[in-house]
Amino acid sequence: MTQKIPVGVLGATGAVGQRFIQLLADHPWFEVAELLASDRSAGKSYREACVWRLATPLPERVASMTVRGPEDALSAPIQFSGLDSSVAGELEARLAARGHAVVSNARNHRMADDVPLLIPEVNPDHLDALAVQRKRTGAGYVVTNPNCSVIGLAMALAPLDRAFGLESAAVVTLQALSGAGYPGVASLDVADNVIPYIGGGEEEKIEAEPRKILGRFAAGAFTPADFTLSASVHRVAVSDGHTMAIFARLRSKASAADAKRALAGFRGEPQDKELPSAPRAPIHVLDAPDRPQPRLDRDREGGMAVSVGRVREDGLFQLKLEALVHNTIRGAAGAAILNAELLRERGLLP
Ligand SMILES: NC(=O)c1ccc[n+]([C@@H]2O[C@H](COP(=O)([O-])OP(=O)(O)OC[C@H]3O[C@@H](n4cnc5c(N)ncnc54)[C@H](OP(=O)(O)O)[C@@H]3O)[C@@H](O)[C@H]2O)c1
Repeated sequence: MTQKIPVGVLGATGAVGQRFIQLLADHPWFEVAELLASDRSAGKSYREACVWRLATPLPERVASMTVRGPEDALSAPIQFSGLDSSVAGELEARLAARGHAVVSNARNHRMADDVPLLIPEVNPDHLDALAVQRKRTGAGYVVTNPNCSVIGLAMALAPLDRAFGLESAAVVTLQALSGAGYPGVASLDVADNVIPYIGGGEEEKIEAEPRKILGRFAAGAFTPADFTLSASVHRVAVSDGHTMAIFARLRSKASAADAKRALAGFRGEPQDKELPSAPRAPIHVLDAPDRPQPRLDRDREGGMAVSVGRVREDGLFQLKLEALVHNTIRGAAGAAILNAELLRERGLLP
């Protein structure tokens, strides 16, 4: 590919926006061409507008770019969105109507009837919904990635559902601070503490989104998967990486060894097509009894692999396991970039 595709980053100054800038810095296909944030940031250089909080240096080329405001016109065909959900709904819809491919992290359009809630390894066939959506918008479209916990949960459940049929599952999450954006939870609330509540309908999202993701899109409509989920969420004093204790009841019998084989062997279209951001193995099955751990395992395959460990049989459910996902990489910006890579690979970019 000789010329890179120009992309915009909406919500560029936020926790997810900064990950976009970091992950796109050396991307082989995409190049950051425009940045958008609120009126508080508009007109400033990116360096001035954003408190850069990542461990790699702020890319010089982006640092000097001027941040645009929510009313400004944009031209890049792909717009990655890390917008606050208070504004994402309307702004993303407007850009889709103007012909952009909006590849979003925000929750606003995830459950819409014609919007793919995409994990390229799990449900690439849901991209068929774009033909329906484009009839509505007349031009561009919105593609979403799931909630940051849901990506890890759905990726861990997908191979089990395919191999053994999922009947129901319960999940207890231990979610990192960066999941709340910056500055997020006040330090005096979270230091030496665990908070058993996350606002914004977090539990409801975790209970609903996997059913859409693991469901079907056929004859122009989504049919959710036929299983039930129950979630209980916690905010913990970890910087990055959401951990989940998952309990699964399956329709056919599976030993822990059977489940581990299904998880470790899981592959999808990103691996077959060797997309630039695809992890070699989407799920890393760890054997050590005390893994996965956020600090040790969240950066596997550049933060794009989900780590699973402690896969064991359970007397009440059938199986229990721990899963870990890097919430701002595989759970957000990295997921959206992989979605855009699949869109390009399938010739679906405007
Ligand atoms: N953090 C995660 O792990 C994670 C994971 C998955 C999905 N998400 C979703 O991704 C989105 C961003 O999350 P975040 O954690 O990055 O939040 P954040 O750090 O609070 O950043 C929010 C961004 O939205 C911009 N913004 C706010 N109001 C705006 C307005 N009126 N017009 C235009 N831009 C506006 C902010 O710009 P200013 O700096 O100018 O205010 C900032 O760039 C949210 O929808 C969130 O639910 C987050």
